[in-house]
Amino acid sequence: MRTPRELQALYQQGKNITQLLREEHGLQHNTDTVIEIAYDLQTGSYIAAMNDADMERHKREYTAEIAKTMLSLCQPTSILEAGVGEATTLSGVLQNLEPDVSSYGFDLSWSRVACAKQWLLSQGMDTTTLCTGNLFHIPFADNSMDIVYTSHSIEPNGGNEKPILQELFRVAKKFLILCEPGYELGNEDVKKRMDLHGYCKNLKGTAEDLGYPVLTHKLFPVTANPLNPTAITVIEKQAGSMAPSHVLACPQYKTPLEQLDGMMFSPEALVVYPIVGGIPCLRIGNGIFASKYKELHFPR
Ligand SMILES: C[S@@+](CC[C@H](N)C(=O)[O-])C[C@H]1O[C@@H](n2cnc3c(N)ncnc32)[C@H](O)[C@@H]1O
Repeated sequence: MRTPRELQALYQQGKNITQLLREEHGLQHNTDTVIEIAYDLQTGSYIAAMNDADMERHKREYTAEIAKTMLSLCQPTSILEAGVGEATTLSGVLQNLEPDVSSYGFDLSWSRVACAKQWLLSQGMDTTTLCTGNLFHIPFADNSMDIVYTSHSIEPNGGNEKPILQELFRVAKKFLILCEPGYELGNEDVKKRMDLHGYCKNLKGTAEDLGYPVLTHKLFPVTANPLNPTAITVIEKQAGSMAPSHVLACPQYKTPLEQLDGMMFSPEALVVYPIVGGIPCLRIGNGIFASKYKELHFPR
């Protein structure tokens, strides 16, 4: 078994780490660990790409289009990008929305979230709440975000479309917008490449099977790679006007978290989640079971 340092060296030599790990471990689908390692090793590459004029223009057009879609649906007061990466999409989207929109993002990879934090600061955006989290156990409360959206983050999780859509839908209050590979809308070359990489499929069909109202499913007008065309899927959620009592939530029980002594404590799970470099680490695996944390740490 290769160590992460060896994998890092292979990444620097240009190897596709997701594919290599899948082959070496005989996996049919990418696992959380494979995705985390592969993306964490890439940290910094999206921000570096913003120095390229063509990429910067593409990103500007892509994010303006996402924001336009949002504004055609509602005036959101809160948005969450699930699988935020380095926030190079989130920053562009926010530039096209009202400045008082509350914004949130999470990602599997701590390094990418840390990079996202720096990137947003460099863009004069310091109010976004960021944390680590997993699409399978999103650390946000039910109905807590007017709009939840993704930009190619369901992509590597092929085979797990249903549980991921259920989680995203749970958190959304009004709309769920998915900008993800358009497998069914692509040609044979596109399908072959997406199959090879283990990309997600059939998001529209999965949403419909779950009984979610799909308002739109079509190719997105802006795509960087013709072999990985983005499709946009808009799903409506009519959660009513109920305001959630909390936003960040225990990833296991979706209940409130208490910030105590630089940690996040889940009174329901009796687990402490660390805050590392200012980033709450809210993946289930990040937690430490500590039923006496409050009593021992904060004696009356
Ligand atoms: C292709 S990048 C896109 C990043 C960002 N959304 C953007 O548009 O620039 C995919 C991101 O999704 C994250 N991701 C993939 N699977 C995830 C999961 N199960 N939970 C949380 N994040 C995930 C990866 O870590 C990576 O940062």
